[in-house]
Amino acid sequence: MIKIKQFTIIKPDDWHVHFRNGKILKTIVKYTSNFYERAMVMPNLSSPIITIKSAKKYKKNILNALKKNSTFTPLMTCYLTIDTDPDDIEYAFYEKIFFAAKLYPKNSTSYSKFGIKKIKTITNVLERMQKIGMPLLVHGEIVDKNMDIFDREKFFIDKILIKLRKDFPELKIVLEHISTKEAVDYIQSVKKNLGATITPHHLMYNRNDMLSNGIRPHLYCLPILKSKTHQEALRKAISSGNKKFFLGTDSAPHYYYNKESHCGSAGIFNSLSSLSIYAEIFEKMHALNHFESFCSRNGALFYSLPENKNTITFIRKSWKIPDKIFVGEKIIIPFLAGKMVKWTIE
Ligand code: NCD
Ligand code: ZN
Ligand code: ZN
Repeated sequence: MIKIKQFTIIKPDDWHVHFRNGKILKTIVKYTSNFYERAMVMPNLSSPIITIKSAKKYKKNILNALKKNSTFTPLMTCYLTIDTDPDDIEYAFYEKIFFAAKLYPKNSTSYSKFGIKKIKTITNVLERMQKIGMPLLVHGEIVDKNMDIFDREKFFIDKILIKLRKDFPELKIVLEHISTKEAVDYIQSVKKNLGATITPHHLMYNRNDMLSNGIRPHLYCLPILKSKTHQEALRKAISSGNKKFFLGTDSAPHYYYNKESHCGSAGIFNSLSSLSIYAEIFEKMHALNHFESFCSRNGALFYSLPENKNTITFIRKSWKIPDKIFVGEKIIIPFLAGKMVKWTIE
């Protein structure tokens, strides 16, 4: 079989990314802005983005960290708390300050301690979002000390998401970074107003890669990597061309000493290699014909935003991911550090 040497697609968007703030932001934003035209920026900073004022300031910090000629647009999101005001949400959505709001179940992931314990405490906000067409993005896991960590996503779907969709049928919801066959099946079974992002790491690896040959803290993220069956279900989902699945890297840097620790942080910093990895997996699945839709069309369609005008070209030329990224004196270990990837992006 002849292998394609290069191809060009509409410049992609990253519908789920963590930029952090301060020095980390300044160092890493280029890895996203070089390859992606827009990104949905997650609001879970150590002081989360819960007000219009903080969102404006954070957006400014991001824009200041970009190269002069960059066309990159950050799309800001609001971290929902029990104090979120529906009038603020409505104003900020119409003013294009917030493009979506993010639901973190309390203590479900990194920086989620200000999250929501009971959905009914934010009913008025969800009603308003439904009314104005503002998307709700969810970290879809229930955390309960009696429940197995590998079942958290399935339980979120069964116990929260199904009821949420019944109570708010017109609310647009994105189930972020899906990791299970149950999530794939559920997304496929629903007719409208539900989409899902899929990360490079959940496509590339399963829990054996993380745990069976020494413990790999740099593959630890939430939702945690599942078994091969689930990884295969995710690969099938993207290969099907179903428009409800779209690109979201969940690139989430932590300093290496917080990852390689007695209690390591959850999050994988993949923005250097994300597009190369997606391309590699689509090719492996003989699904490159659906690649552009996944990267550059399906998300825009879901969010009712225009498709990007710029393009990027993928060249079959391997390159090595650096071992580390310096943030001043401190170090972040990127996803696939020191490994070769097959596609170079121009
Ligand atoms: C993310 C982070 O570090 O902010 N971590 C992760 O493991 N995915 C938070 C999140 O997206 O859940
Ligand atoms: Zn999350
Ligand atoms: Zn995330």
